[in-house]
Amino acid sequence: MSRIISIVNQKGGVGKTTTTINLAAALADMGKFVLIVDMDPQANATSGFGFGREEVEGGIYEVLSKQKRLSDVVRNTAHEGLRIAPSTADLAGANIELVDVERREYQLHDIVSEVRHSYDYILIDCPPSLGLLTLNALVAGDEILIPVQAEYYALEGLGQLIQTVGLIKEHIKPELGIAGAVLTMFDKRTRLSEDIMNELYRYFPNNIFRSVIPRNVRLAEAPSFGQSIFHYDKRGKGAKAYARLARELLAK
Ligand SMILES: Nc1ncnc2c1ncn2[C@@H]1O[C@H](COP(=O)(O)OP(=O)(O)OP(=O)(O)O)[C@@H](O)[C@H]1O
Ligand SMILES: [Mg+2]
Repeated sequence: MSRIISIVNQKGGVGKTTTTINLAAALADMGKFVLIVDMDPQANATSGFGFGREEVEGGIYEVLSKQKRLSDVVRNTAHEGLRIAPSTADLAGANIELVDVERREYQLHDIVSEVRHSYDYILIDCPPSLGLLTLNALVAGDEILIPVQAEYYALEGLGQLIQTVGLIKEHIKPELGIAGAVLTMFDKRTRLSEDIMNELYRYFPNNIFRSVIPRNVRLAEAPSFGQSIFHYDKRGKGAKAYARLARELLAK
């Protein structure tokens, strides 16, 4: 049974892409066959695996606009068992172009449904908005995982996200689940993180991952080398945290 998980939070810079890359790498290292779908026109997950702008000839935009098939654009990464459907800046156009398409919110769903039997996990990295690209990711996924940055305004917008998920469940996909919220960039030296954890329980009483991702400079450096944390600093705190998160996800 494959699982499709959208990594979502409309707030920018909270650790969605860092979580997508390193959770996917952790799952692959545990022997799972994993596909990342980069649904963000910023293409940070794509470049985080070392695929620069010049190297990517076609990405998820071409697949959504039916110029290419998903299998034509999927690339192997340096991790055995981990592949990526890359993104390009063109994807920003899909936000507008999809508006006139019939069943516009199902476009990614239809694409990944065709290949889901080939993978154990499909992780979808979302852009920082609740626009049509994110809507497509939410409809395509079985579950959502919400990275929440341990900072003062972290919970702003979570209400809106939960409301959006509620609307999707009501009108489109009743079975959409919440894998959980995960606290990122956690700094145990500040009291703030503890307060945020307590606040978070009010939003997700039953769905908070016990694994917490620490603030760790290696996690921020790794993408500039085109590497996951498991290749860049496999014995460090960041790798340990994401391995723990992956084990917790496997157990759910
Ligand atoms: N645990 C961490 N420790 C230190 N730096 C981190 C950590 N997680 C993420 N970062 C850094 O914080 C910044 C934002 O992270 P990331 O790109 O993963 O967020 P995002 O939610 O995907 O952003 P966007 O909304 O723009 O897509 C990046 O520079 C990243 O390297
Ligand atoms: Mg991102």
